[in-house]
Amino acid sequence: MTAIVEQDPVLAEVLRTASGTSASVLASLDLIEEHLRRHPAERVVVLGPSVQEESAAEFARHNRISRPSLGVILVRAKVDHAVLADALRSGMSEVIETSDSAGLGDAVRRAEALARAMAEETHQEPAVVGSLVTVFSTKGGVGKSFLATNIGAALADQGKRVCIVDLDVHCGDVAIMLQLTPLHSLADLSQLSGVIDPSGVETLLTEHSERLSVLAAPVQLGSPVPAEPIGTLLETLKAMFDVVVVDTSGMFDDYVLHALDLSDQLVLVGTLDIPALKSLKLAAGTLDLLNLPRDRWRFVLNRADAKVGLSTGEFEDTFGLKADVTLPTSRDVLTAVNRGEVIVRSDKGHQISKSLASFARSLTARTGTDEDSASSRTHSRHGAPRRGLLSRKGS
Ligand SMILES: Nc1ncnc2c1ncn2[C@@H]1O[C@H](COP(=O)(O)OP(=O)(O)O)[C@@H](O)[C@H]1O
Ligand SMILES: [Mg+2]
Repeated sequence: MTAIVEQDPVLAEVLRTASGTSASVLASLDLIEEHLRRHPAERVVVLGPSVQEESAAEFARHNRISRPSLGVILVRAKVDHAVLADALRSGMSEVIETSDSAGLGDAVRRAEALARAMAEETHQEPAVVGSLVTVFSTKGGVGKSFLATNIGAALADQGKRVCIVDLDVHCGDVAIMLQLTPLHSLADLSQLSGVIDPSGVETLLTEHSERLSVLAAPVQLGSPVPAEPIGTLLETLKAMFDVVVVDTSGMFDDYVLHALDLSDQLVLVGTLDIPALKSLKLAAGTLDLLNLPRDRWRFVLNRADAKVGLSTGEFEDTFGLKADVTLPTSRDVLTAVNRGEVIVRSDKGHQISKSLASFARSLTARTGTDEDSASSRTHSRHGAPRRGLLSRKGS
């Protein structure tokens, strides 16, 4: 994808039309570093005539070393020998005259193709390879979406770049819980025509707040979401974000199996009641059959209130797993959900927020960007699929 830097909005629109309408426009070069950090899939930057010569040259010189595959195209009112020589010396990819719209379109396409080829040639991957956390239980209403949204927001507040993916494709609640109106969703996956790469995936995302993006479930009921590309999609997101948090439907469907296959951590969610205990025990049996290593399991006991006839200890003993965190029922959770807020942000001092923030931190401490996990992730990315749960389903 392409970013255009131009102060004059009319001219910026002309450049955007020439470059491809999905290009982003920034009014000043001061905004570009933050933009590139947030959009690691950006492949080309077009510097419009309002960008000063020296700043443009400095930007190109800097990126020649720090982002060698980024194409930098300079647009000037008039291109003469001196402009061209300076531009080439500083490492611009091309210099185009403002009036040459067709030339700019061609230059952007050339720079994108070159960036893509360089990435393939050098097996260049984005600098950070993220971890994937799947929030799962085979029972509805236990708090999966509440946890996925709050864990995601807590991690973003802790400095991680986070994407929450709503794999509850028929009835996803992530967007509504975060008060988002997504323009794009998983339903648009088929529009990528089989090419699932960072620049395409980026177009499906909705930005919630700093460092927190969402890939929403379809907004319209009944919109089909193909299951087959979900594995590639999640792998791509893992390369784009520090942490990918996946919310799930409560079924062992193909979407979930793809997520489980790529999960660095699995957060199992239960509530302190017998039906939840029964469904967790059944889920654990299936996860064992699928060979999902137990050292990746985490367990959240939600609505773990006293005096409900079943104690936390009894639940843990029967389930065979100690809770990593227990959360009480609280009206404040419902209030936050009904306002489209995450309690970890709206009421940071709340006991539930503190417990969730520290649980979220523990998830990245285990597999975030630490070196131990980097090696295991590298193995799973470059080797055969780690577990191949989908192929094992039904065997
Ligand atoms: N600890 C809690 N205290 C009070 N309400 C909660 C708590 N956890 C979840 N809820 C509420 O329970 C409902 C179901 O939660 P949700 O996250 O949608 O469950 P799931 O995604 O597992 O179906 C939501 O309205 C949510 O606000
Ligand atoms: Mg849900």
